[in-house]
Amino acid sequence: MSDISFDGRVAVVTGAGGGLGRTYALELARRGAAVVVNALGGSVEGEGGDPTAAQKVVDEIKAAGGDAAPNFDSVSTPEGGAAIVKTAVDSFGKVDIVINNAGFLRDKSFLKLTWDDLDAVLDVHLKAAFYVSQPAFAVMKENGYGRFIFTASNATFGNFGQTNYSAAKMGLVGLSNTIAVEGARAGILSNVIMPVAKTRMTEDLLGDFADYLAPELVTPMVTYLASEACTTTHGAYSAAGGRYARVSWALNNGWFAGKGVTPTAEDIQTNLEQIEDREGSFVPSSTTDEIVALNEVFTK
Ligand SMILES: NC(=O)c1ccc[n+]([C@@H]2O[C@H](COP(=O)([O-])OP(=O)(O)OC[C@H]3O[C@@H](n4cnc5c(N)ncnc54)[C@H](O)[C@@H]3O)[C@@H](O)[C@H]2O)c1
Repeated sequence: MSDISFDGRVAVVTGAGGGLGRTYALELARRGAAVVVNALGGSVEGEGGDPTAAQKVVDEIKAAGGDAAPNFDSVSTPEGGAAIVKTAVDSFGKVDIVINNAGFLRDKSFLKLTWDDLDAVLDVHLKAAFYVSQPAFAVMKENGYGRFIFTASNATFGNFGQTNYSAAKMGLVGLSNTIAVEGARAGILSNVIMPVAKTRMTEDLLGDFADYLAPELVTPMVTYLASEACTTTHGAYSAAGGRYARVSWALNNGWFAGKGVTPTAEDIQTNLEQIEDREGSFVPSSTTDEIVALNEVFTK
C-alpha cells in the first residue's frame, strides 16, 4: 500500500464553500491536487448567494501551500455547469475529478410540496450533476482518465418530507451507474457517496447524534474514490461517523412462472415469498447482467 497522491491531478468540487465539500477540497489540495472550489453560497434552502464562501476556502488552500481557483457559478444551469468546468480547464489545463456535492433542501410532506420546491431540488441535485459532468466527461474521455463522485443520501431509503430530495438523489444513482458503464473504456470511474455528517444542513435534524458525525469522517472515502488508487466503479458507499459500507441496488433469483406460461395475479400472491427471497441476490453492473441472468433462467 502506497500513499495516495493527487500530484498533477485537477479536481472540481461543487458546493465546496462549507460543509462536506470544503473538507473534500482541503484534503485533495493537501494531497497535491489543483482544486476548483465552486460555491454559490446561499442558505440551506438555496436562497441568496455569497461569493466569499468559495474564496475563503481557496485562501485556506493557498495559505497551506496548495493550488486552487474559485468559481461562483450555480450548478443549476447548463451555462453554470459549463463555466465550472471551463474554470478548471482555463486555470489548470484539464479536469480529472468531479465531486458533485452542491445542494440544498426544500423539505415538505408530499401533499404540501409545490412544483417550485420540486424544480429547485431536481435542478440543484440531479440536473446540476448532468450540467457539470457532461462537459467534464468530454475532457476526461479525451485524456483517458476520470473520476466522478455523485452525492446521494440515505433519503433514497425513504424519508418523511423528502420526496423531491430522495427522488433527485436516487436519480444520481442511475446517472452514476450509466456513466460508469459509458466511461469504462476511457478509464473513467464513477461512484456514489451517501454521507451522514454534521453540517449546517443536518445539525438541527440530527440533534445530539450529530456529535458522532464529523464531516471529516466522510472525507477518506471520497478521497479514495477520487484517487488513482481507486479500483471500484458503479458503486455506492455510505460514509458516516467512521463507518464505511457498500449500498447495493441488487437483484435476486426471483420466481419464474415457466416457459410460455402467463401467470395470474394470484400466482404472484402465492409465490411472493420466493419473489422477495434475497438469498442468491447479486448486484448487476449493467443492464446486460440482468439480461444474462434472465437468459440463464429461460434456457435452464
Ligand atoms: N450532511 C449530511 O448528513 C448529508 C446527508 C446526505 C447527503 N448530503 C449531501 O451532501 C452534500 C453537501 O451537503 P452539506 O451537508 O455539506 O451541506 P452544506 O449546506 O454545508 O453544503 C452545500 C453547499 O452547496 C452549495 N450550493 C447550494 N446551491 C448551490 C448552487 N446552485 N451552485 C453551487 N453551489 C451551491 C452551498 O453554498 C454549500 O456550500 C449535499 O448534496 C447534500 O444533499 C449531506
